[in-house]
Amino acid sequence: MSKRFYITTAIDYVNGQPHLGHAYEKVVADVIARSRRALGEDVFYLTGLDEHGQKVQQAAQAEGKEPQNYCDELASHWQSFAIRLGLSNDDFVRTTQERHKTVVAALLNKLHAQDDVYKGTYRGWYSWRQETFLTDKDRNPDGTWDPIYGEVKELVEENWYFRMGRHQQWLIEHIEANPSFVSPDYRRNEVLGFLRSVTLDDLCISRPKSRLAWGIPIPFDSDYVNYVWFDALVNYLSVPIARGEETSLWPADVHLIGKDIIKFHAVYWPIMLKAMSLSLPKQILVHGWWQKDGAKMSKTTGNVVDPVAIIDDWGLDAFRYYVIRELAIGPDGNWTDTGFASRYGAELANGLGNLINRSLSMLQRYRAGIVPARHDELAADATRIANETIDHLRTNELQAALQSIWSLVNRANQYVDQTAPFKLAKDPAQAMRLDEVLYNLGETCRILGVLLIPFLPATSAKIFAQLNLTPSLRLDDAQWGALPTGHTISAPIPLFPRRDAEKK
Ligand code: MSP
Repeated sequence: MSKRFYITTAIDYVNGQPHLGHAYEKVVADVIARSRRALGEDVFYLTGLDEHGQKVQQAAQAEGKEPQNYCDELASHWQSFAIRLGLSNDDFVRTTQERHKTVVAALLNKLHAQDDVYKGTYRGWYSWRQETFLTDKDRNPDGTWDPIYGEVKELVEENWYFRMGRHQQWLIEHIEANPSFVSPDYRRNEVLGFLRSVTLDDLCISRPKSRLAWGIPIPFDSDYVNYVWFDALVNYLSVPIARGEETSLWPADVHLIGKDIIKFHAVYWPIMLKAMSLSLPKQILVHGWWQKDGAKMSKTTGNVVDPVAIIDDWGLDAFRYYVIRELAIGPDGNWTDTGFASRYGAELANGLGNLINRSLSMLQRYRAGIVPARHDELAADATRIANETIDHLRTNELQAALQSIWSLVNRANQYVDQTAPFKLAKDPAQAMRLDEVLYNLGETCRILGVLLIPFLPATSAKIFAQLNLTPSLRLDDAQWGALPTGHTISAPIPLFPRRDAEKK
């Protein structure tokens, strides 16, 4: 079976509230997945939920619910969230599914048989809130613990450990030899800097059942469950294995994650895979974090962006457009409501929306909706821009791709202003020139419909409906000249209605 393009996102903590950060990551992965499909690749896009661990156990207890029932309720909420974002994911993993648990147990058995795990004693400072042991380096200068750690107590515990040191040098060499393994570059340098400067401690991969029952049992020691991160990372592999598609899916092409979880993905996960004799993902693609109005989003201060409220108010494609256009994959971003409204007004309503609407309205009005003879005045610009867009999509430069697409929107809007078809229409001697202009505009609208497939799927479909053409699914269709002469288009309908706020 031939290899499919396999892209994953981080799996979200089931007990968190879906917010802008989660929505952003899933939309970025969706645009990449749709781009690859439109480039003719066979794609598998996986997202899902991380459902075990201390926090889930505590939250379920606080609500007087069984953890599994608690997770089931929340999971259905997250699944509707994925639908609201228009995600084209091919599966949705939940770490409480049997298919996942079976693979985790099998992999642990393998590591155990190979002596990659051992039982050891650990004494240390434990943060209950962060579910992690702390070291003296984590203390404030005055010796206290930051309140983000909650209650910190000394704990002595026997646990299972995974040997990390065996593969540290190998990982350094792998990252050096594969420059795109961690992207962007500054994240790769961060990982290399870390790996070169410390000796990796062995990774504690269990929790005693007496302290935490809500986890996948360690198959060879019934007093323990799995550490939630070991369990969670395996999701990328458990789905392909459980579906019997390991050979066509593994290794993953892209693990898309946020900058806070890079160590788990670029250090622990590769070493786990190496120990299991499995190949490494081709790329860990690391995105930045969103703030709102220059400050960290936080439920307590009410400084949050609720993607569902934005989508209800402005439409899904407006949301998808803004997050991809505003922020490249890598740096941190800042959401402002005014920034959103201004991009909506300038780029969607007055830019794309106005171009499509006035082009198709003039074709209706002046030519009864019938496409005139082919003419190639905008062909060179459209072809160059389409190629540029496709190149950006091949390298996952989504923001740059949108910038290219909008250079075509702007070029065509400028063309309308320069050629002034509304004036040409008044002069019968200019009938031929008007035909030429209308063909160029109609064909540019069609090409924009093609280029927008990965980003704004509903808008792309609407452009094709208004052109009365079968929706395109392939970026190949962006070649100039496919709009057939003599074809009759449908009625134009505004794509992005102007909003009162922008009219003021
Ligand atoms: N469950 C772990 C991931 C396990 S992956 C094997 C987790 N979950 S999370 O819900 O806290 O975060 C999920 C993803 O959302 C992470 O990639 C994280 O970086 C991302 N984001 C969370 N808040 C974010 C922003 N404010 N901005 C952008 N992305 C952010 O970590």
